[in-house]
Amino acid sequence: MRRRSRVSCSSFGRVAAARVPRVLRIGVAREIKTDEYRVALTPAGARELVQKGHDVVIETGAGDGSAFPDEEYVRAGAQIGSVDDVWSQSELLLKVKEPIEPEYARLRDGLVLFTYLHIAADEPLTRALVDSGIQAVAYETVETDDRRLPLLAPMSEIAGRIAAQAGAYFLEKPLGGRGLLLGGVPGVAPGRVLVLGGGVVGYNAAIIAIGLGAQVTILDRSIDRMRYLDEILSGRVSTVMSSALQIESSIADADVVIGAVLVPGARAPKLVTRDMLGVMKKGAVIVDVAIDQGGCVETAHATTHSDPVYAVEGITHYCVANMPGGVPITSTKALTNATLPYVEAIAEHGLASAVARDRSLARGVNVLDGKITYEPVAEAHDLEYSPLEDVLPLARA
Ligand SMILES: NC(=O)c1ccc[n+]([C@@H]2O[C@H](COP(=O)([O-])OP(=O)(O)OC[C@H]3O[C@@H](n4cnc5c(N)ncnc54)[C@H](O)[C@@H]3O)[C@@H](O)[C@H]2O)c1
Repeated sequence: MRRRSRVSCSSFGRVAAARVPRVLRIGVAREIKTDEYRVALTPAGARELVQKGHDVVIETGAGDGSAFPDEEYVRAGAQIGSVDDVWSQSELLLKVKEPIEPEYARLRDGLVLFTYLHIAADEPLTRALVDSGIQAVAYETVETDDRRLPLLAPMSEIAGRIAAQAGAYFLEKPLGGRGLLLGGVPGVAPGRVLVLGGGVVGYNAAIIAIGLGAQVTILDRSIDRMRYLDEILSGRVSTVMSSALQIESSIADADVVIGAVLVPGARAPKLVTRDMLGVMKKGAVIVDVAIDQGGCVETAHATTHSDPVYAVEGITHYCVANMPGGVPITSTKALTNATLPYVEAIAEHGLASAVARDRSLARGVNVLDGKITYEPVAEAHDLEYSPLEDVLPLARA
């Protein structure tokens, strides 16, 4: 039988001591940002939470864009509610994208919000979160001790895989490409793919390109990373130390260039300059996945799924800033696979105890009870930083 705990999510100090089974009311909001079709919980995830005794309320139509109709959630044991129900009555609210201006008035004291936030680049939202007294946990800053970002990785995996597909597709002549089949055929050589940055995006781009039959070269600056790639890809790619000179020479041979570099906390370095386009083959394709960090190609600017490419000096540029948004069914499942364990932990223990048990999750807390608890966000807006342990006396598990 379910017992409703009298411990609220906001009463951090008492959470650890109160070892009563919790029933949490978990809301899932419908995304209202343009072109956002993902949803923060699948019916399978809803079932897991319901089985653990929680109340799950899905906003009407929240899963439609990811091909999860309301009835599937109902079959999983969830309830369907209005936007007002979900925002005003939940204790834990799950979203995909950051709240946008029409949603600011719904932020409130006592609510735990778990979503992508990216507030270092969004001062109005930072202030709205601080003023509301909400407890805001950002997917993108959940970080393991070995510096992995487990809630960003699934989107990088998807973007990397799309990058190789998009490169192959836009090589077709009627689409402005060279008119080359990336994988070749018996007796005809395949195309060449150059991947700049062999991290999560670069690795995933490489495995799809290899699968299509292309010849793949990855340039990176980390010897350890290249050693790893060489080992797991069993020598099916060439790994080469990245330098300006190396990029200049490799780019001349490439049919597809995939920009996948990341320098943490900084804008992407401009590795491909406008001058370099002159040495490339006409109709070659550049896919600049790093466009969301400003792009690693000088001539790149952000595009959309409805108008994804443009040409500069005869080179096709594909620079879609939210590549995973094009495949919401896959993205929703991949995202919720990664987020569900954290959702379960917050639901089971309450935020205070959950972050005390898991330092990765603690790094996700950006704003708590009117204080900014994630230093880069405070620095970005020149606002006061309060260490999480000062705001939230970490409960002992
Ligand atoms: N457009 C989209 O929809 C989308 C989606 C997901 C990720 N991204 C972006 O893709 C980029 C890559 O993300 P990731 O998850 O693979 O990051 P990652 O940290 O896993 O990998 C980045 C790699 O770049 C390498 N690198 C850094 N400087 C380099 C240089 N000068 N030359 C060559 N390699 C260099 C690093 O050593 C690292 O291996 C990021 O900018 C990320 O924001 C975009």
